[in-house]
Amino acid sequence: MSIAADWQVLLLPGDGVGPEVTDAAELVLKVAAEHVPLRCTRTLIGGASLNETGQALNEDTLRLCSACDAVLLGAVGGPQWNDLPAENRPEYALLTLRRKMKLFANLRPVKLRSQLLHASPLREENAGRGVDIMVVRELGGGLYYGPRGTDGTGTGQRAYDTLAYTRAEIQQVVREAFRQAHRRNRSLTSVDKANVLETSRLWRDVVNETAPLYPDVDTEHLYVDNCAMQLVLDPARFDVVVTENTFGDILSDLGGALAGSIGMLPSVSISRGDHPCLYEPVHGSAPEIAGQGIANPLGAILSVQMMLDITFGREDLAQHLDEAIDDVLEKHCFTRDIAQKGVPPVSTGEMARQVADRFAARIQDMSSPAGPHG
Ligand code: IPM
Ligand code: MN
Repeated sequence: MSIAADWQVLLLPGDGVGPEVTDAAELVLKVAAEHVPLRCTRTLIGGASLNETGQALNEDTLRLCSACDAVLLGAVGGPQWNDLPAENRPEYALLTLRRKMKLFANLRPVKLRSQLLHASPLREENAGRGVDIMVVRELGGGLYYGPRGTDGTGTGQRAYDTLAYTRAEIQQVVREAFRQAHRRNRSLTSVDKANVLETSRLWRDVVNETAPLYPDVDTEHLYVDNCAMQLVLDPARFDVVVTENTFGDILSDLGGALAGSIGMLPSVSISRGDHPCLYEPVHGSAPEIAGQGIANPLGAILSVQMMLDITFGREDLAQHLDEAIDDVLEKHCFTRDIAQKGVPPVSTGEMARQVADRFAARIQDMSSPAGPHG
């Protein structure tokens, strides 16, 4: 018996396809639990919480989020809540949670797997050169959190959102991006709109001041409009991309297309306090396909893969899970969003079972020959 306490994983299924992909992720976590002492609990967030408790993010959920070791969130939001005032909407719960947990950077790896070339909109020669990008999105500031409002009436009615960044906010996310680049292929693209925006000019200054601390990293600046174009024309040139909150939101969906489907993208948000990391697939609640069992669970499962590596420090298990996903895709087991012509797609649950089985088998293969029980 271990004396160390189990890792506590808090699952926040949320809305739309969130619960379906969270179930899938939990299946994989159960396999991992045979090798890492971990325990999963669940609670409400978003519209699901609003319907049940009257609040999209209640105090209990917040408390559980800071008391656990890792949070896995499915998705929040849906059309039935779209007409609510901003501060009651499910999305606001997520934004508040990000703020309260001091999550300053959101890491979104964008990878086109060789088994999914058919699903990418890229021309064959471009897809073949590979897509392996880490989008580092600033998560705690910018337009999402600046002063906002509406005033006036009639045609004079005015609405505004404010884009502001402090040097400190930029520094912390830029430093994280340099650390990522240093660990990866040592190339960093900082994305801004410095030909127009003051915040972008400060952003660029901070990047230029930080670059000498990482002499092994090649640094370039791109305007966001050009970056969107280059990501489509020549994705293989990118390694780490760092950018502010709104640009990062937009460019990472573009990354979803490059990867074959946004359903493939995982993410982790990291905290500058002593809060845990928040893991979440990038795809969102996708209400139009919710409840049909057709959502791609790989974004959520790959979020578990990041959790194994980052929170639990089990790079070995993370690697096995990644290879298990390759095995399953190799067998032409695809959900509808990444389906191949002539191959009937599998359900969310079937994809999850296949990955969980291969994951278990790969761990078994690794441990049995040299294991203590022969
Ligand atoms: C994302 C989502 C969220 C965002 C929404 C749901 C608030 O689009 O995580 O990319 O805009 O940050
Ligand atoms: Mn988004």
